[in-house]
Formats: sequence, structure tokens, C-alpha cells
Amino acid sequence: MPRRRRFYIKTYGCQMNEYDSSRLADLLVDRQGLERADAPEDADVLLLNTCSIREKAQEKVFSELGRWREIKMQRPEVLIGVGGCVASQEGDQLRLRAPFVDLVFGPQTLHRVPDMLATAGSGTPCIDVSFPEIEKFDCLPEPSVRGPRAFLSIMEGCSKFCSFCVVPYTRGQEVNRPFDDVIAEAVHLAERGVRELVLLGQNVNAYRGQRHDGAMTDFAGLLSYISEIDGIDRIRYTTSHPLEFSDRLIEAHADLPKLAAHAHLPVQSGSDRVLAAMKRGYTVDGYRMIIARLRAACPQISVSSDFIVSFPGESDRDFSDTLAFVKDVGFDYSFSFLYSARAGTPAAEFVDDTPREVKLERLERLQAVIAAQGAAISRAMVGTRQRILVEGPARRHDGNLCGRTENNRMVNFASSDLSLVGQFVDVMVTDVLANSLRGTFVSGAAGTADTRCEKDAGRD
Ligand code: SAH
Ligand code: SF4
Ligand code: F3S
Repeated sequence: MPRRRRFYIKTYGCQMNEYDSSRLADLLVDRQGLERADAPEDADVLLLNTCSIREKAQEKVFSELGRWREIKMQRPEVLIGVGGCVASQEGDQLRLRAPFVDLVFGPQTLHRVPDMLATAGSGTPCIDVSFPEIEKFDCLPEPSVRGPRAFLSIMEGCSKFCSFCVVPYTRGQEVNRPFDDVIAEAVHLAERGVRELVLLGQNVNAYRGQRHDGAMTDFAGLLSYISEIDGIDRIRYTTSHPLEFSDRLIEAHADLPKLAAHAHLPVQSGSDRVLAAMKRGYTVDGYRMIIARLRAACPQISVSSDFIVSFPGESDRDFSDTLAFVKDVGFDYSFSFLYSARAGTPAAEFVDDTPREVKLERLERLQAVIAAQGAAISRAMVGTRQRILVEGPARRHDGNLCGRTENNRMVNFASSDLSLVGQFVDVMVTDVLANSLRGTFVSGAAGTADTRCEKDAGRD
């Protein structure tokens, strides 16, 4: 019997890309009968799902392609495809730099990969980076389940057009998935053992979906519908945006027991001048008010954020305002990035005359403050009982299982009882490790989940 063709997908970028890659893999396995390969050297089809958010991410693509080119030189029948945000931005230009690439597909055309593979296999390179609205979801098989935690994409693209960002150009304008489709996917996942759902989108709180009775539902409404689904006991979302962070969403954090007490709410800068140049559409005080209201609604909420350091024109004063703001708000572990000029975005034309050493020094200072704040929160968790969803054996810690706390920290605890996987259990936190916590098993959590903030306030 001839062996089945094998594919290998390498993914860069955000969780939306990870979600897309897993759906593409499902498509290739379920509809095309391909098999997964463990390494690029063993595959007949090599697919790279790319990210272009910063220059570094984009450069990784071309170094990976350089390695894949060697494979193709030894086995010319291998097909190489590039998808995702770099593909979307470069289109057919990508083949100028990498002429050995056989297919180029965008985030919205990955469902067409099987047809593209057929065309490319007959010798004609195939390029399709168009934006057919939401079509991909109708063409993909139902998602496979790999563990008790799953991503669910509720919207595509972004229409905010922040002055530094490529996403609206690479992923297209904001398009919501139909409400019924989102619910059907959530139910499908719950029926297959998923207990924690992570709702994905560039600005999930801009979600608007039409129910089958014609009524419109906002993001807070969607959360309350999802929290009615049996089996789903914890819900997270990422990423939210300070615009459209409505009172209803804040109330959802108080009212929905299953909604994790954690919000990742990127602010980017603590200077109004910089926020205006970034075209973020809110002020530092506006952001502070959201956090104050969230904390009033849910006192235990942990808030993390994204920061861009050294945006063009950021002065020492702007930067020290950002540092003071971070200290004042008290963020949990957050991401900070050096500004990277992206071709085609308005900010790429701004004068950017801050010396590189100053930029790097600012990044280091901000990262030190953020790391210290995150570490202090971790240390304060030592001696507390935390409810975690056991996700599976801990990587790098033999004889341990691991699971995430409500504030998104991984806890490892000694146990080889695989029947705990997919269960919520209580652990006592004993130590803080470099990127995780260590704990001891206390008890299996019985009954329905209750992650409500009032309960958390009673943590010992
Ligand atoms: N939609 C989300 C962010 C998505 S991109 C939001 O608006 O909050 C993830 C993060 O990458 C951003 O929050 C920002 O901090 C960072 N980022 C985006 N473009 C960047 C650029 N040109 N240079 C550096 N960091 C960037
Ligand atoms: Fe990019 Fe701004 Fe959209 Fe976020 S909101 S994806 S930063 S354009
Ligand atoms: Fe990167 Fe595209 Fe996501 S640019 S961050 S993969 S939306």
C-alpha cells in the first residue's frame, strides 16, 4: 500500500495563527487523508504559518525557508507553502525572495490549501491571499480536540488601524463569526471534553453577532451564552481593547462564575501624547477608569497588558510617564516590545530619531518593572490554595502534572494520576519557579466550577 503523504506545519505569531494552523491540520487529515510528520525532513508538504507584527518575526520566516529549501533540493517533489500574515502582506512578491515556494495563502484562504496543493503539485505555483469573508469557517471540518483547553476564534481581522500595526492589512477588516456558529463550535468542543475555552480575536470585545431570532448579541452576551454550556467551566478571552470595553463586559466579570478573573488589556503606553500618535482612541485616564471599574466589579482580577517602547517621538518624559503608570496600576506579567516600523503603516513615515541605546535601555527598564510586579504577585500566591484545570503531564518535570490558575500561571504538582487530566483540582502553591509555580495536590474539585471573584476573595 502506498504510504500516505505527510505534512508538517510550523507556526509563528499569535494564538489566532495557532488556531488557524490547527484547523488547517484538521482539514488536511480529515478531508485529504494526509498524515502529520514529526519533523520537516519527514514531510512531503511543508507549510509555514507566518507573522509580520515586528521585523524579527518576519525575518524568522526567511531563515526557516532557507532550511526548507535544502530539503527541497534533496527531494524536489516536496511542496512548500507559506501562509499567514507575511504571506498576506507579500503575496506574489514573496516568490521573488523565495522562488522555491509553491503556494502562498493568507489567513482567510487557508481552507483553499488542498486545491492549491493540487495545482502546485502539477507544477504551477499558486497564490491566493484574498479576503473572502468568513468563508474559511464554512469550509473547515469540525475542530479536533487535543486536551481540555481549546481556542475558539470568534472574529477575524481588525478595523482599528492603530498607526503602527500591520494586522488590518494582513488579516483584513474586522468580521464577526455568526453567533450560532460560535455556539455550535463551543458545544462541539465541550462534548469532546474541553473544559476551558479561550475566545480569540484581535478585539474580542468589539464582537457583535446575530442570533437566529434576529437579535444582536454583544461580547458580554456571547460570554453569558457560552457560560450556559454544560462542560465548559472556565472561559478566557484574548485580546480585548480599551475601546468598547463596555459596562456590560465589566459586569460579566462580576456575574459570570465561569469567566476567569483575568483580563489581558493592551494599553501600549502611559502617555496621552504617544497614545494619540498611535491612534489608539483612548487616554491614560480612560484606561485607568476601566481598570478601576473592573477591580470594583471583581477585586481579584489580574490585569496584564502589552506595551510598545520607543514609539517614534517618545520622549524621556513620555517614557517616565509610562513607567510611573505601570507602577501605579500594578500589572501582572505583561508583554513589552521595542517599536518596529512596518512598511505600509502610517507610523513607518514618522520621524524616529531616538538613539538605539536609549530605546534598548527603556525596554530593559520597563521589562524589569513588569517582571518585578509579576514576580511579587507570584510570591503572594505561595501558601494559597488555587483551583487549576489539569492539562496533562508537565513538560520538563517528570512525574508531575500541570494546570493553569485563574490568573494564567502554570502550576506543576507531583502526581502521575492521569485521570486528573481534564479535571479542576485544588493545589497549594509552594514555590515560585522561573516561568511557573510549584504546588501540592490538595483535592479534586467536585461539582460545577465557581471561579467567582467573591469566592476568590476568600483565598487563604
Ligand atoms: N489587537 C491587540 C494587539 C495585537 S498585536 C490590541 O490592539 O491590543 C499584539 C501586540 O504587538 C500589540 O499589543 C503591540 O504591543 C505589539 N505590536 C503591534 N505592532 C507592533 C509594532 N509595529 N512594533 C512593536 N510592537 C508591535
Ligand atoms: Fe493592531 Fe490596533 Fe488592531 Fe490591535 S487594535 S490589531 S494593535 S490595529
Ligand atoms: Fe502576527 Fe498576524 Fe497574529 S501579524 S500577531 S500572526 S495577526
